[in-house]
Amino acid sequence: MALTIFILKETANLETRVAATPDTVKKLAAMGAQILVETGAGLNAAQSDDAYTAAGAKIVKDANAGLKEADIVLCVQRPETGVLDKMKEGATLLGLLQPYAFSSIQPSFEKRKTSAVSLELVPRISRAQSMDVLSSQANLAGYRAVIEATAAYGRAFPMMMTAAGTVAPAKAFIMGAGVAGLQAIATARRLGAVVSATDVRPAAKEQVESLGATFVMVQSDETKEAETKGGYAKEMSDDYKRKQAELVAETIKKQDIVITTALIPGRPAPILVTEDMVKTMKAGSVIIDMAVEQGGNCPLSEKDKTVVKHGVTIIGHSNLPARIPVDSSQLYAKNMLNILTLMLGKEKTELKFDFEDEIVKGFTLVHNGKPVHPLLQSEPKKK
Ligand code: NAI
Repeated sequence: MALTIFILKETANLETRVAATPDTVKKLAAMGAQILVETGAGLNAAQSDDAYTAAGAKIVKDANAGLKEADIVLCVQRPETGVLDKMKEGATLLGLLQPYAFSSIQPSFEKRKTSAVSLELVPRISRAQSMDVLSSQANLAGYRAVIEATAAYGRAFPMMMTAAGTVAPAKAFIMGAGVAGLQAIATARRLGAVVSATDVRPAAKEQVESLGATFVMVQSDETKEAETKGGYAKEMSDDYKRKQAELVAETIKKQDIVITTALIPGRPAPILVTEDMVKTMKAGSVIIDMAVEQGGNCPLSEKDKTVVKHGVTIIGHSNLPARIPVDSSQLYAKNMLNILTLMLGKEKTELKFDFEDEIVKGFTLVHNGKPVHPLLQSEPKKK
């Protein structure tokens, strides 16, 4: 019997993306799978039910109708337990399942003997690049962050020489030069801003400079070990944080636009822009705090709100990819297709959990109801 794959309509607040597009549905259908799509699933990302039907999918009227048949369920944000509890026994859910806060939904998987694949945990290795949802989404988010900043900034980004006088270029400072930060740098440069950036990893210097921005960094031996094997940053010492704060304080008061993207996976975001620093910024400046979901790099930012503090506009969109839904869905769906292709293997009759494969081992949280990921096993047991 053919494998059935079901694409859920997202219900999370402000979510506009969809986990599969007509393009990826066509490819999955060509592998022999039956594809079910919840009606309206792609509407916010400009994908109509008709487009899915034309690609070979069947539209179902609600989540229940898809869940009772599906062997594989695809989502962007993790669904409510009401949905998880209706999955078919032995089925697999793939999506952004918030692995660091998984315990609240884990019992649903144990109960239904279902499996959970968390796309945040795709390892950052070359072979997995085409599956790396965090990178594809952070890239677009970095772009969108700059667009949000341009819209909120009461001035222009590029220098303009007009008969009525010269408009000075905006000065943008990007904090954290990872995936989102590098795209923010590139976008701000394209728009004509004068850009500088900082990071704790010395390796970032070359990348920042190759985009035409100035690199600003604390000089310390500690930075030599700032990067983990997984390519992420480590938490820095208090001494380093103090030096960094001095450097940031000095730099920030000259900026018009500040975009913060500093992250340590699974930890609260480091505070990089304090209230005292905000007070030194020019009136009309804009801060985009991309780390707002993990508490923020600026204590004044508020999740999904725009606030004005000390004359500075502080924007805390927690889901920037959802503000560019067509492209973000397309890249997300492509990442998802690549993951499914890996797991379906040659036969394509079932998802294979090959735990010898570091990608599969890396992103599987629960297999047939059993927690298999160290993140879950190391959680302290509740008394
Ligand atoms: P990444 O891991 O590629 O980049 C983070 C960068 O921050 C790294 O280069 C790291 O070395 C640097 N960093 C860490 N601690 C630092 C510190 N104390 N000072 C300076 N730099 C520091 O991560 P990615 O994918 O670029 O995401 C960045 C942030 O953006 C994350 O917080 C992520 O959750 C957030 N994000 C937010 C979105 C939104 O919609 N608001 C969408 C996508 C990502």
